[in-house]
Amino acid sequence: MQYENLLVENRDGIVVLTINRPKALNALNRQTLAELRQFFGKDALRIEGIKGVVITGAGEKSFVAGADITEFEGLDAQAGLEMSQNGHDIFFMIERFPKPVVAAINGFALGGGCELAMACHLRIAGEKARFGQPEVNLGIIPGYGGTQRLIQYLGKTKALELLMTGDMFGAEEAYRLGLLNYVVPAGEELNKALELLGKIVAKAPIAIQKVIECVNTYFENDGFRREVIEFANTVKTEDFKEGATAFLEKRAANFQGK
Ligand code: COA
Repeated sequence: MQYENLLVENRDGIVVLTINRPKALNALNRQTLAELRQFFGKDALRIEGIKGVVITGAGEKSFVAGADITEFEGLDAQAGLEMSQNGHDIFFMIERFPKPVVAAINGFALGGGCELAMACHLRIAGEKARFGQPEVNLGIIPGYGGTQRLIQYLGKTKALELLMTGDMFGAEEAYRLGLLNYVVPAGEELNKALELLGKIVAKAPIAIQKVIECVNTYFENDGFRREVIEFANTVKTEDFKEGATAFLEKRAANFQGK
């Protein structure tokens, strides 16, 4: 197992997986996504005695600050479709992973970072963590399952508000809305995740796997496919070019509805 952007640490069968690109606030670039695919699709279940996984972000500032916006340049509808489908496939691998996966959210969980956390089975955040689906600020929609999973956790009322405003919200609010299992003092999220997983992995592993499968089945729907298609449709707009350029130029976007 050789990774550029993931750190893998096996603690008695609980694997701590750290997204490790702190200079880019652990944004998910193509390489990191390929490594997550490699890990959850192949390597993880080959780890002798694996019982569960914790996903966290390197550094104190960020869990994952979304997809890597520097890779957005030149994205066309076809590339957008492929990008979104790739993210969906990987995040489904996490959601359908037969062992419990817990997100230990140590900072920003925005866009793809919030979507990654939502694909995990359980979520624990430090009190300074910040959440949001800010894609509309860039002229696109969430492309890694955010339009679907946000509704699953928050319900339609708040999900629509947060998807349409792109507003960030804090850990206490995320807990109140039902997105989080626990909020803990900053820096304690990994310990709490390990404690919670310790309790779960003492149960019968096949029973835990079946719980995961049954709960996932409840939420299966066509909305995920529709999100891939509509993500690609927003990627081909002029507003998306403007939104991504404005972010990189550190200025407000001027959208024209085209
Ligand atoms: N993709 C690529 N690079 C990113 C990034 C992303 N999603 N998020 C942050 N970075 C980079 C910044 O460009 C900056 O790089 P630089 O030092 O080379 O200028 C570095 O990470 C630090 O971020 P910065 O914006 O300076 O930190 P901040 O504390 O002022 O703001 C955020 C933090 C998270 C609020 C801000 O970075 C942000 O809004 N990021 C984008 C979030 C987003 O829209 N995600 C969804 C993408 S679809």
